[in-house]
Amino acid sequence: MAIEQTFSIIKPDAVERGLIAEILKMITDSGLKIKGMKMIHMDRAKAEGFYAVHKERPFFGELVDYMISGPVVVSCLEGENAIEAYRKLMGATNPADAEEGTIRAAYGQDIQNNSCHGSDGPDTAKTEVAYFFNENELVG
Ligand code: PPS
Repeated sequence: MAIEQTFSIIKPDAVERGLIAEILKMITDSGLKIKGMKMIHMDRAKAEGFYAVHKERPFFGELVDYMISGPVVVSCLEGENAIEAYRKLMGATNPADAEEGTIRAAYGQDIQNNSCHGSDGPDTAKTEVAYFFNENELVG
């Protein structure tokens, strides 16, 4: 299996509730390695750019408002099959549908306040990592 990188956000609902350590523990316990990580508070332009692919969707405005409502923790994760492995660890987008043992089943509140984001494919992963990290910040 290939060693891949993926991009993760611990979203405002989880940071606000003090869940950074719990979620990072689930990530590292799963075998994923943290290559780079920082806490940031996105401005509107940064969040709109990140979610540009969803700009025609009805929830776009709410999603952006939510993502700039507080700080988030962004990270670049690395490991075998990291993209799919992290999607599996997060669970379904809607926490009500997330399997037991996943981050969203444990901590997600609803489809917006769902605690985490992970890249959905190799191209997205590359773009998303580069959107938040310079090469020299991937030090892990
Ligand atoms: S996925 O996982 O990308 O297939 O999910 P998708 O349904 O396409 O959702 C994309 C992101 O939009 C968020 N989302 C919403 N936010 C607010 N309100 C509603 N109704 C809603 N539906 C979906 C969802 O949490 C996804 O966020 P990210 O950060 O990409 O995981």
